Amino acid sequence: MRQLHLILLGSPGAGKGTHAEYLEKELGITHISTGDILREAVAQQSELGKKAQQYMDAGQLVPDELIIELAQQRLQQPDCTSGWLLDGFPRTVAQAEALTQLIEESNGSEPLAVNMTISDQEVIRRLSGRRLCRDCAQIFNVYRDNIGVADPCPTCGGQLYIRTDDQPEAIKERLKVYQDETAPVIEYYRRQGQLITVDVAGEQQQVSQHLLAAIKAPQASEK
Ligand code: AP5
Repeated sequence: MRQLHLILLGSPGAGKGTHAEYLEKELGITHISTGDILREAVAQQSELGKKAQQYMDAGQLVPDELIIELAQQRLQQPDCTSGWLLDGFPRTVAQAEALTQLIEESNGSEPLAVNMTISDQEVIRRLSGRRLCRDCAQIFNVYRDNIGVADPCPTCGGQLYIRTDDQPEAIKERLKVYQDETAPVIEYYRRQGQLITVDVAGEQQQVSQHLLAAIKAPQASEK
């Protein structure tokens, strides 16, 4: 079977991480989140983490050279040979060009970019209600999952936390950065004929199924 190479594009809080978990299971491909890798590096205070932290906390992008090297190394790991799903990369045109070059140098297959669309108003609501589990990394939302302020993770009992960049000022900056830096990436994949667009404003399970159907039959979605 042809390897599947998927790129999830969408503003902060569009649901990339949430739906990536579902798609990873359904499609049997490796989910790679540059945001998760960076947060792990920050938690461990590795060299990468120390360099990335100030940018992340302020809602700004980590410099291209750091991220491109990180992505190149991750995509060469053995678990990527059966296909991958990128969440949070590429985020600038320079990153997209580096990814194209990397794919051309490996197997040359065509990636499919999925543009997940949602209003800024819904993004702000979702991010202000987001909670993550320190132990199992599952993503929740106080507006949907019936979670109180000090409640433990409903799945594993671990501690729930709020991401530093989910504060109002950082959310505002991330939305601006998305428009300035990442919106051109959507046009990059549209020009290559490798883009589909999916409205992700609805209920989570329905959106997941809608995304899966659009990925399986991309010709039926807007290219
Ligand atoms: P990253 O971790 O990639 O953050 P992001 O792109 O801002 O996206 P989020 O993780 O905030 O949102 P999401 O779309 O995954 O939404 P989620 O599924 O959680 O990056 C963080 C930082 O790292 C960046 O700011 C930057 O500094 C750095 N970085 C990372 N990659 C980089 C790169 N390539 N270049 C440079 N810097 C980079 O959902 C949000 C909430 O909504 C959750 O609570 C969820 O439960 C809820 N939700 C989801 N779907 C639904 C639904 N359908 N209905 C109701 N609620 C829903």
